[in-house]
Amino acid sequence: MKLEPFALERWFGKYEFTTRYNIAESCIKPFTVSELEAICRCDLLRTTEIENLGYTDSRGTDELREEVAKLYPGRTADNVLITLGAIEANYLVFTALLQPGDVVITEFPAYQQLYEVPRSLGCKVRLWDLRAENNYRPDIAQLDAMMAASKVKMIVINHPHNPTGASLDAGSMAAICEIAEQHGAVVLSDEVYRGLTLIDGVSTPSAQLFSDNVVTVGSMSKAFGLSGLRVGWVVGPEDIVEKCWTIRDYTSICPPGPSQAIALSALRNISSVMTRNTSLARKNFSILDEWVSVNSDIVSYIPPCEGVVAFVKYGACADSIQVAGELANFDSVLVVPGSCFEVDGYIRIGFGGDTDTLQLGLDLAAKRLQIM
Ligand SMILES: Cc1ncc(COP(=O)(O)O)c(C=O)c1O
Repeated sequence: MKLEPFALERWFGKYEFTTRYNIAESCIKPFTVSELEAICRCDLLRTTEIENLGYTDSRGTDELREEVAKLYPGRTADNVLITLGAIEANYLVFTALLQPGDVVITEFPAYQQLYEVPRSLGCKVRLWDLRAENNYRPDIAQLDAMMAASKVKMIVINHPHNPTGASLDAGSMAAICEIAEQHGAVVLSDEVYRGLTLIDGVSTPSAQLFSDNVVTVGSMSKAFGLSGLRVGWVVGPEDIVEKCWTIRDYTSICPPGPSQAIALSALRNISSVMTRNTSLARKNFSILDEWVSVNSDIVSYIPPCEGVVAFVKYGACADSIQVAGELANFDSVLVVPGSCFEVDGYIRIGFGGDTDTLQLGLDLAAKRLQIM
C-alpha cells in the first residue's frame, strides 16, 4: 500500500499555525469549552459520561450511537460506528469494502482521501468530473455511461462538496442511489458538510433516505465546529458497519471517551448549536460574496450553496502555489492553493471562521491579487 502525500494536510502543516489571517479552514469557527457549556447548560468536563477515562465500547458508546442514529431516519445504533473523525470513517469503509482491481468512481475535484486511498488499495479509480458550467453538480448521464463501461464496486460522492460548496438535490441523490443499486455497487456518501445551509430551502439530503445499501460518513468537525474532538461516524447496513468495526480494532481500538461525551452533549443541543453555526456561516458568506462582486476584475466563483468553503478563480498569471505562497509569506494570509485539489488557477477560501479575520484576510488577498 503506497499513499501519496496528502497535499492539503501538508499545506496546512506548513502554514496553519504561522499565519495570522487563516481564511483556509473548512470548519465553522470552533467552539470554546465555555461557549459550548453555555449552550448545553452543563459542565462539559463533569458530565457522568466523562467520569470513566478508560477505553469505551469499541463501536462507540451506546448513547452516542443512538444520538447519531437520530440524524438518519430509520437507522438505529446498530447502523452506527463511531470513529476518529470522518477521515477514519472513510478509511475504514474503503479498506473494509475494496479489493485490488475493483473499479471505484469518485467525483472530481475532491478531498484527496476520497480517491487516494482507493488507489493505494490497488483499485482502478475513475474520476467523475464536476464542472463549473454545471455549477459543480454531478452529471447523472455521465455516471450512467461510466457504469456501463465497467463493473463498478463503489461510487464515492461528497455533498455539500469540498472544495466548491456545491449541494446535491434530492432527485440527483435518488438517481445516484438507484443507479448504484441497479449495478450492485455501494455508494459512499461523505456528508461531513451537511447542516451548514447558506440559502433557505437548499440542503443536500442524506443518501440514507434513498437506499439501504448506502454508507454515509459524518462528523462533529465541520458543521458542528468541534473538529478537535476527532469524533466521526459510519452509518450504513449492519454487515458493513461490522466489517468496518473489525478493521478499527487495528487502527484506533475505540474512540476517545471524553470526546464522545462532549459530542453527545452537543448533539443533544443540536438546534442551539446549529443556530449559532448557521448564522455565522451566512453572515460570513455575505462578506465573501460582496468581496467577490467588488473584485470581479480579479476573482470570480460559482457561489457555494452549503458549507463554508468556496472555490475562487483568480485572474493573476501565476500558479496557485505561487499565489497562496505569496499570500502566506508576504501578507500572513492563509488560503488553500487549488493545486491541493489538482486544479490550478483557483484558491479555496474557508469563510466559517472569525468574521474580522475573514474581512481583513480578504482585503489583503485582494491587494495582493491586484499586483500579481
Ligand atoms: C470531504 C471531507 N471528508 C472528510 C474530512 C475529514 O474530516 P474529519 O475532521 O471529521 O476527520 C474532510 C476534512 O477536510 C473533508 O473535507
